[in-house]
Amino acid sequence: NMIPETEKENYTQYLAAVKEKLGKKRIALSFDDGPRPETTPRVLEILKKYNAHATFYIVGSHVEGNESIIKQIVAEGHELGNHSYSHPLLPKKSADEVYKEVHNTSDLIAKASGGLRPMSLRPPYGGFDKMVAEQAGIAIVNWSIDSLDWKYRDAAKTIEHIKENAHNGGILLMHDIHEESVEALPTIIEYLQAEGYELVTVDELMTAIKGPDFPTGALILGREGIKKAYSTGRGSVKMRARATIEEMSKGKHKIVVTEIPYQVNKARVIETIANLSRDKVIDGITALRD
Ligand code: NI
Repeated sequence: NMIPETEKENYTQYLAAVKEKLGKKRIALSFDDGPRPETTPRVLEILKKYNAHATFYIVGSHVEGNESIIKQIVAEGHELGNHSYSHPLLPKKSADEVYKEVHNTSDLIAKASGGLRPMSLRPPYGGFDKMVAEQAGIAIVNWSIDSLDWKYRDAAKTIEHIKENAHNGGILLMHDIHEESVEALPTIIEYLQAEGYELVTVDELMTAIKGPDFPTGALILGREGIKKAYSTGRGSVKMRARATIEEMSKGKHKIVVTEIPYQVNKARVIETIANLSRDKVIDGITALRD
């Protein structure tokens, strides 16, 4: 084991401090791929009824014609995020194309919302690398709980999956473009609120974890991202994801890990994070599973 005892102690204290900050249970609710006039207003209606907040990761090509929905999202206390213009796998694009995908979308959202620019990018399919992060210039926010609503297209299965995977400090990924997701939403919210969770925006969750300065240029990773990078074995995807995280952490980026999954080589992640934390990198870890 290569981790010095003092680092392990610092890390344990750090975790305890983060957990204390998160004493109140919170989950950030996020909806991707809209707005869609047939479903997004119904999602808004449900959120209002239950006094829940969410972040909407808007696709730039869906802005035109849906400006009133975007205004309503803001007026009802939710957050606007950027989900690219045409929903490509961004690492496959050139740097110029990525810049346009992100910044044209932020321009359109700002125009529709009366000047609000998204603070974070959710890259389509969760796909990012250093180039994407640099061109985006805003925080990259993935998720720690994938509802799998896009895969199941079945309200009951989505509800079950969320019940099994909900955790404090999590970022829950859903889609406001599917009928089944709208159908499942009231039950999901009722369940999470009964479990004591406050449903908040990504910005509100980050503020609770690390104070009022949103981590500009941050890379916010959930279970999937860490699993991809740090599960055992030497697959090329794993190695690339790991190299990306470690390379980015040496630059100006901050890494926020919302949950470390139990499937990965925990010693390896802790070792890396302990090393990173010396370089001011880690902002928040909300849960460490055994
Ligand atoms: Ni998407």
